[in-house]
Amino acid sequence: MDTQFLIDQKLVMLAYLFASVLFIFGIKGLTHPRTAVRGNMLGAMGMFVAAVVTLLAKGLDFKIILAGVCVGAAIGAIAALRVQMTGMPEMVAIFNGFGGIASVLVAGGAYLIALRGTSTLGAKAAALIGQGPELGAQMIVATAASGLIGAVTFTGSVIAWAKLAELKIIRGGQILFPGQRALNALVALGCVACVAWLVMDPTNPDAYWVLCGVASVLGVLLVIPIGGADMPVVIALLNSYSGLAAAATGFVLNNNVLIIAGSLVGASGIILTIIMCKAMNRSLTNVLFGVLGPNADGPSADDVYGGKVKSATPDEVALLFDSAQRVAIVPGYGLAVAQAQHAVRDLSNLLQSRGCEVEFGIHPVAGRMPGHMNVLLAEADIDYDQLKEMDEINPTLEQVDVALVIGANDVVNPVARTDPKSPIAGMPIIEVDKARTVVVVKRSLSPGFAGIPNPLFAADNTLMMFGDGKKAILELIAAIKES
Ligand code: TAP
Repeated sequence: MDTQFLIDQKLVMLAYLFASVLFIFGIKGLTHPRTAVRGNMLGAMGMFVAAVVTLLAKGLDFKIILAGVCVGAAIGAIAALRVQMTGMPEMVAIFNGFGGIASVLVAGGAYLIALRGTSTLGAKAAALIGQGPELGAQMIVATAASGLIGAVTFTGSVIAWAKLAELKIIRGGQILFPGQRALNALVALGCVACVAWLVMDPTNPDAYWVLCGVASVLGVLLVIPIGGADMPVVIALLNSYSGLAAAATGFVLNNNVLIIAGSLVGASGIILTIIMCKAMNRSLTNVLFGVLGPNADGPSADDVYGGKVKSATPDEVALLFDSAQRVAIVPGYGLAVAQAQHAVRDLSNLLQSRGCEVEFGIHPVAGRMPGHMNVLLAEADIDYDQLKEMDEINPTLEQVDVALVIGANDVVNPVARTDPKSPIAGMPIIEVDKARTVVVVKRSLSPGFAGIPNPLFAADNTLMMFGDGKKAILELIAAIKES
């Protein structure tokens, strides 16, 4: 096959540099809802430039490549069109997994080609796609890293996806058994032994495949004990792993743009993981190995709520809005469950048309995935200027006439400030309890993700408007229009 370079190598490097700059501006754009779509486009453009230049750099047989592009594009387009907003975390999980397995296969393929003298599969691959990088210390170490991290990412992500999709075999929960940590440590040691085997005996491809097999088992073992609701943090971490595996594959192939793109994904994934852990006031170790649940010593729901909860009908709540000048809406996971974002937009528009100032307070871990509330509110075309981050809205809440909490619970629970023994102690919250009146829309007094009662619901200035988020807001809109 033709292996000559079709584009000058300097031009290839220049194009890779351009693609890398696009990736960096793309990630910068993703840091704000207003620039997120543009950021996404820049990142996609960068990837397009990198892929086209890589494909054109050498003479290749495009038949198989085109078939791969068509199948991949079809799967991606169908998945993107069909996925529901609440299903995004599992789609991201499975795509991370695909990234991991791609690294395992690409690094493995390049390694086999480098071994073509000793491997028939490698000889066939070399005949098909031409000469690859030479077998050397860099290639062996990078191949081991790709196989190890890529395989852990693949199986870990498949388990994360299965938990989030609530598949029957795994049903969302944690799988715990005696001696689990010892077994995990043993399998991790097995991975280290396989890496040593591959490095000591680099011409034996069995070492690579055994390493991938043991690392696949490790990926499953690491993710099964983690609670289904902690999966978003784990997915951010697996996303980081998939980037590291891609960067390692970049070293296998001597491909600079893959090293840069993989490192960017690896670094941004770990930063996101840390932000999520901080916003939940939990350490990563606690997420990976700890169990979040109600504190046995904490007050019971009866202690907190007994005889103190006041409920109100939409008609009664509508009267509050007659005189309200400033309203803060704080959405949470229940908004996503009820799909109430469009109803909330209509309520916000109605209040604004009556001269009321309406802002949305967004907690960084409200919902079940990073940016969950931003995505839902953007879907309903709510003006970005109305969205205020926690740190921005908190100092203003004392001047708010009505704080309307829709399907949020933990992120507005004042025990985070008051009870150092609570599982959410120290977690920064949106301090709606400081508003003049608080209206909480939820179906019952059930706890949220942290499983603890919320004294906000029994506070003197709180009214509970019980009901499904969307139905309750539609009733409230009707009542305000009538009042
Ligand atoms: P939660 O504390 O989980 O509370 C959600 C509330 O929504 C529940 O109390 C539930 O009460 C209510 N709800 C459910 N369905 C509803 C419906 N159809 N209509 C109205 N209300 C409904 O939510 P939050 O305040 O958003 O806090 C998020 C929690 O998830 C935090 O503890 C956070 O640490 C954790 N977490 C977040 C993330 C990310 S990245 N966002 C990742 C992992 C964990 P009812 O059943 O009574 O209606």
